[in-house]
Amino acid sequence: MGIIKDILRTMDYGPSPESSEHVGVWLDEHKAGFGHFINGVFTKPGDLFDVFNPANGERIARVSQGSPKDIDAAVAAARKAQPKWAALSGFERSKHIYALARHVQKRERFLSVLETIDNGKPIRESRDIDIPLVARHFYHHAGWASLIDSEFPGTKPVGVCGQIIPWNFPLLMLAWKIAPALAAGNTVVLKPAEFTPLTALAFAAICVETGLPPGVVNIVTGDGATGAALVTHAGVDKIAFTGSTEVGRAIRKATAGTGKKLSLELGGKSPFIVFEDADLDSAVEGVVDAIWFNQGQVCCAGSRLLVAEGAADALYAKLRARMANLRIGDPLDKSTDVGAIVAPVQLERIRRLMRQGEEEGLEFFRANDSLPDRGCFYPPTLVTGVDPASVLAREEIFGPVLVATTFRTPDEAVALANNTRYGLAASVWTENVNRALEVAARIKAGVVWINSTNMFDAASGFGGYRESGFGREGGREGLSEYRVADEPKAKPNSARSQPLNASPGVSPARSAIDEGPDRTAKLYIGGKQARPDSGYSYAVLDPAGREVGLAGLGNRKDIRNAVEAAAKASSWGAATAHNRAQVLYYVAENLAAREDEFVRRLSAMTGASARAAKSEVDASIRRAFVYAGYADKFDGAVHATRSRFVTLAMNEPWGVMGIICPNEAPLLAFVSLVMPAIAMGNCVVAVPSASHPLSATDFYSVLDTSDVPAGVVNIVTGEANVLTKTLAEHDGVDAVWYVGDTDGAAQVEALSAGNLKATWTSAAAMDWAKAEGREFLRRATQVKNIWTPYGE
Ligand code: NAI
Repeated sequence: MGIIKDILRTMDYGPSPESSEHVGVWLDEHKAGFGHFINGVFTKPGDLFDVFNPANGERIARVSQGSPKDIDAAVAAARKAQPKWAALSGFERSKHIYALARHVQKRERFLSVLETIDNGKPIRESRDIDIPLVARHFYHHAGWASLIDSEFPGTKPVGVCGQIIPWNFPLLMLAWKIAPALAAGNTVVLKPAEFTPLTALAFAAICVETGLPPGVVNIVTGDGATGAALVTHAGVDKIAFTGSTEVGRAIRKATAGTGKKLSLELGGKSPFIVFEDADLDSAVEGVVDAIWFNQGQVCCAGSRLLVAEGAADALYAKLRARMANLRIGDPLDKSTDVGAIVAPVQLERIRRLMRQGEEEGLEFFRANDSLPDRGCFYPPTLVTGVDPASVLAREEIFGPVLVATTFRTPDEAVALANNTRYGLAASVWTENVNRALEVAARIKAGVVWINSTNMFDAASGFGGYRESGFGREGGREGLSEYRVADEPKAKPNSARSQPLNASPGVSPARSAIDEGPDRTAKLYIGGKQARPDSGYSYAVLDPAGREVGLAGLGNRKDIRNAVEAAAKASSWGAATAHNRAQVLYYVAENLAAREDEFVRRLSAMTGASARAAKSEVDASIRRAFVYAGYADKFDGAVHATRSRFVTLAMNEPWGVMGIICPNEAPLLAFVSLVMPAIAMGNCVVAVPSASHPLSATDFYSVLDTSDVPAGVVNIVTGEANVLTKTLAEHDGVDAVWYVGDTDGAAQVEALSAGNLKATWTSAAAMDWAKAEGREFLRRATQVKNIWTPYGE
């Protein structure tokens, strides 16, 4: 009786351990070590490495280190299986994926316990969040498998997908990768993280059990070297990666110019913004979920608390009280809130960053420093008064550490929220719906949760802005990463990046000053004609070698000026879609009014017949009309996710786009690329064909007379490879489209790794008469998902 009275007084939970018996038996059965899962069977264990339980440091399994040969075998199996898998009816594929969902669900308990032992996360989380979401992803994508042909017309599967996942949500990340890939008709080779490979191997056994055709799913375990072998394997058509920004950048460089599709889901330093009118008790529970869920080892963790100055003291007091109630310890205990950090190396990384914070003199609060005697544990920590320049405010700590800063105005809150190189997620707390939606719109992040945090669902896209990566996972947005246009293989484009004096149709550079201002088409920057910084122009020649005009020889400085002008014009993105449509209609009308002039220019420059030139100008006018029409119709969606949530998927412009046009169809290609970009609200720095730039430079006066605001379209002529390089490297450019040759495409992809800008490159000749439609608009936007709860 005494004990019950004590319990009622303290309200303490007693121990409530989950049984690990079944998992123990399974691990014992594999004592000799796990092999890889290739072509439907487990290989003999090879070079083995140890896998530990981070909560007690004990070895739980030995797993094979995948070699390049293993990757070869897995890719070969996936390649062989792919056509047959893709040829199955959607219904058949759907049944297979549905079976995976059912079997995961049947084994929820086993998988939750295994995940917790392998990763250190509390059983409450693996049981209630990770594994149910895994099943949800397979169910959701089972549906897509039977809809893919009708919902994604004109596309086909990418082929063999290499997928590399991290250790923080091992089975969930597997599901996020494998389910859409399979639904879209691809086969996969997946490499789990070296710290947490066990649930992937258990999933492989489920694939056998459900009768998934051999080779459709292959799993090769190993470390970064195994991952790198998969990334560079010539037989892989797409790489999907989740992990650190550093490795994401290396993968961007390694895949540059290979033609591999790439999606990257990288790190974050997500803001958690609390306004003065927020429900502070709910916000405190939000913080717990934002930063102490999975010990803060979450890419979208709300790790930067930004709180209104007037609410800060009250919020901190409530947080400190709440922190005292967090239970840290055995992850298998059902009442544990905070489990173990995944591995000693990760624990040391957290400690190192905290030492740096201590050196900066920051103020730390920990309610409970008593940690289990063994295992990798780190106490929940609150750091207040953090300067935005502090290492703790900038670096992804990936641990249970919340850094807090105050703000005075909503503008300051938004500025602080966006003061990061990342852009994965954000959480906004206020009872004022107008403010919530305004702030959500202004934050540069792929996901914004209003009065909520860490909400996920298979029907909603998830992914980042800026250095948090590109591409989305989940729902329709995620599926398009696993499909490509179903077109016959095109011929390669003509070489694009020779020096000007070797290009067809172009003669060596000469001083613009000698030529006099009248004959030289200048650059177009910030709504004004600008002399090139070099002071040089080059002669544009017709196919017979006769000079038809002069164009400015732009250089790096001109590109930088143009990017600055484009950034200043960003209010274009906030103009109403109707307004943008009207401007595009003017462009089309003014081009039509000057049709004869453009026809003559094209004929003179390219040697095209008057008829062919007229047809190119006509097509350009039509194209401008099409995108004027699309400007207010390529809208977003409301995803069907969780009950009592509206999940808005908004198509937002990238911001500043660099567009490098091909030599072919000099007017039509230029219009086909620039119009969709500006229709969606981007500001553009365009580099027209170097050989035939004059129809683009004639376009200045069309832009001037069409109410296109200054800086929305900037045009820099000159040597393609110099200008392309500057655009691809520039940190102020958010996305680059490049149509040209193979070397140029490779250069764009490699140089874009700096700020991880999104790229869309083509080295194949395009049929410009047909180059139009939603794919251009999709590529001109990034999706932001805003989750808004409703109800009292
Ligand atoms: P990581 O990026 O090195 O590992 C993620 C995955 O990539 C693992 O499967 C790993 O084996 C693989 N990998 C490593 N090097 C590779 C290479 N060169 N080529 C191909 N694959 C490679 O992450 P790590 O070292 O485990 O964690 C370091 C930091 O990264 C964390 O402290 C955290 O800040 C961040 N991180 C972010 C994650 C996210 O979800 N955004 C997940 C994991 C880590």
